[in-house]
Amino acid sequence: MSLQLTGVGVTYPGTTRPVLVDFDLLVPTGTSLALMGPSGTGKSTALAVAGLLLAPTTGEVRINGRSRTVRDGAEVLRREVAWVLQTVNLLPRRTAVDNVLLPVLAAGGTREDARGEAVALLRRVGVQDPEQVARTLSGGQAQRVGVARALAARPSVIVADEPTANLDAATGRDVARALLTAAAGTTVLLATHDRAVAAMADVVVELEPPEQVRRVAS
Ligand SMILES: Nc1ncnc2c1ncn2[C@@H]1O[C@H](COP(=O)(O)OP(=O)(O)OP(=O)(O)O)[C@@H](O)[C@H]1O
Ligand SMILES: [Mg+2]
Repeated sequence: MSLQLTGVGVTYPGTTRPVLVDFDLLVPTGTSLALMGPSGTGKSTALAVAGLLLAPTTGEVRINGRSRTVRDGAEVLRREVAWVLQTVNLLPRRTAVDNVLLPVLAAGGTREDARGEAVALLRRVGVQDPEQVARTLSGGQAQRVGVARALAARPSVIVADEPTANLDAATGRDVARALLTAAAGTTVLLATHDRAVAAMADVVVELEPPEQVRRVAS
């Protein structure tokens, strides 16, 4: 499903300087887009708007052509958007596959129906042992489980905010590759500081610092 931001502006409450101004973004169905740019340019803010966590001050978000807002309710949000973050937050004592099944069970699915698919998803992202207990996974393996968990919910859109930032560069790139490969067909919006990770996405968009900052820097 496509993801579109149109004319998005964000000014955080209690501040005067906008973080995003008239920001447009289109991620066509089944494609991936990476946001890059210096710290503070609004990548996480743009993702929070796209992922329906933050209501923009102006503008709108469309998922598959339908205007969606923070007020659409948990049911819609859970169905449409899955997040992959820097920190994975797996249930440490549960197995990899149990962690992947969590969103499916939360959405009313049954373990019997969903388990096979969860195991297949784990394989697709490079986790061979679905019964491994989460707290014994390496950082890279844990992040792979997080990717499988995001995909298990069959979201319209995956929003990934620096999903590889806690990993060493080589592992991070492997995990990013696994994410983009496993998510083929799902629309992905990703923010990263790693140019090699960004280059794996179909499109890279660079956010620029505001004028004032650039003038001071030059
Ligand atoms: N809740 C908030 N209230 C006020 N200002 C905020 C809030 N969240 C973010 N900001 C400000 O908005 C700007 C953009 O922040 P954002 O986190 O979107 O940047 P970013 O590009 O993701 O940075 P990084 O690369 O460090 O993750 C920053 O100046 C930040 O201080
Ligand atoms: Mg950020």
